[in-house]
Amino acid sequence: MTVNPALIRKDFPIFERTVREGKKLVYLDNGATSQKPNSVIEAESDFYRFKNAAVHRGAHQLAEEATEVYEQARDLVASFLGGVSDEIIFTKSATESLNLLAYAIGSAEPSNRFHLAEGDKIVVTEMEHHANLIPWQQLAKRNRATLGWFEVNSEGRLDLSQIESIIDSKTKIVALTHQSNVLGTVNPLQEIVKRAHEVGAIVILDACQSVPHMKINVKELGIDFLAFSGHKALGPTGVGILWGRSEMLADLPPFLFGGSMIETVSMTEATWANPPKRFEAGVPNMAQAVGLGAAVKYLTTIGLESIHDHEMKLTQQLIHGLQSNSDVEIYGPAGCDMRGGVVSFSLANIHPHDLGQFLDSQGIAVRTGHHCAWPLNRKLGVVATTRASVYLYNDSSDIDALLLGVCDAQRFFARA
Ligand code: ALA
Repeated sequence: MTVNPALIRKDFPIFERTVREGKKLVYLDNGATSQKPNSVIEAESDFYRFKNAAVHRGAHQLAEEATEVYEQARDLVASFLGGVSDEIIFTKSATESLNLLAYAIGSAEPSNRFHLAEGDKIVVTEMEHHANLIPWQQLAKRNRATLGWFEVNSEGRLDLSQIESIIDSKTKIVALTHQSNVLGTVNPLQEIVKRAHEVGAIVILDACQSVPHMKINVKELGIDFLAFSGHKALGPTGVGILWGRSEMLADLPPFLFGGSMIETVSMTEATWANPPKRFEAGVPNMAQAVGLGAAVKYLTTIGLESIHDHEMKLTQQLIHGLQSNSDVEIYGPAGCDMRGGVVSFSLANIHPHDLGQFLDSQGIAVRTGHHCAWPLNRKLGVVATTRASVYLYNDSSDIDALLLGVCDAQRFFARA
C-alpha cells in the first residue's frame, strides 16, 4: 500500500490548526515526538470514560474490563514486535525501560547470570542519546565495571574495525541505538550481535527511532532486550516498552518494588511474580498503554514497510535539496542506504537556534540543539545542529517548505 499523507492527516486533529498567525503547520520534529491520530486519543479517553479501574486488582466488572483492554494492548505490542505477550513490559518511557535494565542488572547477585562484577565491561556507541548512555555510564561507576564504545567515523557510521577488542571477553553488555536520533544512521546489528553473543554478552537495543518507522521483528534481529517509547510511535506520552527474551526476563531481578510485582510477602521477606508482572510495580499507566495499543494497530494497518518507503522518499528529497545549497553541511550518511528519516544539518554563519526560530515563524517545526546526544555533538565538532525528522503524515510540500525556509533564512540573516 502507498502511504497517502493527505488522507492520513485527516486522522490527526492537530493538523486542523494553524500556527504563527494562520500558517500551515509543517511538523518536522517527529524524532522528538509524533502527533496522535484520533484512534489513539479516543482509546485513551474512552478508557477513562468507560472502563477506568485499577487493573489486576478489583473483583468488579470495571476492573475486569480495564484488565482486558490493558492486556489486549500488551498482545498488540507483542505481535507488533514479533514477540510474545509475557515478554512485553509497560514502563513510563524508553528512558525508564533502559534504567530498569541498568538497575536490575546492577543489583544481580553473583549467582545470577546478569551479575556485573568489577572489571566487567559495558559497550555503548558514541552516537547514543543520553537515555542509552548515562544509565550504562552510571552503572559502570556503581559496579566498578568499565565502559567502552564504538566511535563514529566521518561518514556518520560506527567504526567496527576494532570490534574484537571493543567487544572483548570481559564484555557483559552491549547497549546501542538501532537508529541515531542525530545522524539517521541505521546500525549494522548482525555483526555486533554475532560478536556480542560469541563472548557471552547480552545485546540491548534502543529502538526509539526505529520502531515507529520500520518493520521490526525482535526474533529476527537476534537481540536480547529492546526499548522504545510510545509517544514517538503515535502513542501517548507516559508509556514505554521494554521487550526481553523470556529466558532473560525469567532471571532478571526486579527494579521497582511494590504492589502487583510480588508472589508472597511477609514482614521481612518477599518473593517475586513472574515476568511481566515482576517489572510492573504499582498501578500501571493503563490508559496510556491502551492508547499505545491503538497506535500500533494504526501503524500496522498502514504498514511499516509502506511508511518506511514513504519516509525514505521524503528523506531523499530533503538530502538532495540541502546538498544543492553550498552553505549547508549535513551530518550523517549522505545516501539513503541504512539510514532513516532524520536529517541534521548546519547552515554557515547562522546559529541553529536562529534558524529554528526563523523556520518557526514560517510555521515549520524542527528541533535545534544537541538533541540529547552531547558526546556525539562534540565528536562532530558542533555545539548544536538543526534537525528535521519526517513521519507518515509529511509530504513533499513539507520538504519544499523547509528548503524554501532555509533559503529565506539565509536572505533574512544576510540583511540583518
Ligand atoms: N531523543 C529525543 C530526540 O531525539 C528526545 O529528540
